Amino acid sequence: MEPFVYHNPTEILFGPGMIREIAPRIPQEAKILWVYGGGSIFRNGVADQVRAALESRPYIEFGGIEPNPEFVTCMRAVEVARRESVNFVLATGGGSVLDAAKFIAAATVYRGEDPWEILRTHGEVVAGALPIGTVLTLPATGSEANGNSVISRRETREKLHFTSVHVFPKFSVLDPEVTRTLPARYVRNGIVDAFVHVTEQYITRPANAPLQDRLAEAVLATLIDVGPRTLRDPSDLDARASFMWSATLALNTLLGCGVPQDWATHMIGHELTALYGMDHAETLAVVLFGVWTYKLSAKRAKLEQFGRRVWSVVSAEEAMRKTEAFFNSIGMPTRLRDYGVDAAEAAREVSARFRAHGWAFGEDGDINANAVQAILELRR
Ligand code: NZQ
Ligand code: ZN
Repeated sequence: MEPFVYHNPTEILFGPGMIREIAPRIPQEAKILWVYGGGSIFRNGVADQVRAALESRPYIEFGGIEPNPEFVTCMRAVEVARRESVNFVLATGGGSVLDAAKFIAAATVYRGEDPWEILRTHGEVVAGALPIGTVLTLPATGSEANGNSVISRRETREKLHFTSVHVFPKFSVLDPEVTRTLPARYVRNGIVDAFVHVTEQYITRPANAPLQDRLAEAVLATLIDVGPRTLRDPSDLDARASFMWSATLALNTLLGCGVPQDWATHMIGHELTALYGMDHAETLAVVLFGVWTYKLSAKRAKLEQFGRRVWSVVSAEEAMRKTEAFFNSIGMPTRLRDYGVDAAEAAREVSARFRAHGWAFGEDGDINANAVQAILELRR
């Protein structure tokens, strides 16, 4: 096991009725910027519960954060936050709203000329941020309990992430009841996103970290169990609760302690969203099997362990097939053509971007432009 620092400062408030617990956790003197998306919170009861919790506390609403949050929209919120001397950001929604809130919280106090630097440097220039609280309505990203944020810039067709200890939420409310209004497409996306967050930290190479392995396998097995149940029966709150908690544990930084991490699937996936507008999870469902196939010899030992312990199969190839069949069974296509994307063109375009940035990801740092070309061509 490699040395590591583990610090997760986010307080989790889990279960029905927990939204009322936000008020005592927001400082009395706070002037709140309440950030939300396209309006789902007005249909699932979250907006009413937040209003009731905040009572007469001063807040300014900023709605309209789009899926794959847009830099320009976030900068409009930053203007409001600066003009109104906001000192607390409350986010209510899915990963996009939470990620936007993190960027807004960091950019509001950023002293540099151009806040895009926060993303260009992947967070290196972030020296502080306004405190953030969240009410999560879509289990998927883990944004509710990590320091990551992903922001898009449609003007330049870019999608970049930043990471900073300063943007871990102070608290996050996870009430499975508010996820009942989720359309099947976003539940499916959430299952796949959480699943791939685990595999990015687990399907690498053996690292003498049996506890991390068992934790990862537990989250994967739970997702395989409760994911389809959540899709099948919207009233199954037990399944929904376990799905929600699984998605948080998938990326609250615990599983990755002391082990090699991959993340190539995510980085290639972000480019596919930026270029073709595919949903985040759709990109992962396509790219994952390309990365696994390309790296089969290096990943074989972990794929076999995953196959044995999670799928009860013996070979790495069968483990891959089982996983792809699972994604397909929950309505997630796994080929570029299923999304109307030409594989040869995507391979060329994404590879050119990797080359221009000099990027190389993966646990061995070898998923570079040439590798990306081969990986995407495998997914036609
Ligand atoms: O905008 P509203 O009206 O709220 O509707 C949203 C949105 O249209 C809707 N929704 C959310 N909760 C709902 C609901 N609809 C009905 N009932 C509810 N309870 O769902 C739609 C999609 O929401 P979005 O937030 O975009 O989805 P998700 O949570 O999957 O977030 C995706 C974004 O997170 C980034 C992705 O790249 C993408 O930009 N990621 C963030 C990560 C992180 N911060 O750690 C890691 C991930 O790997 C990922 O990259
Ligand atoms: Zn993801």
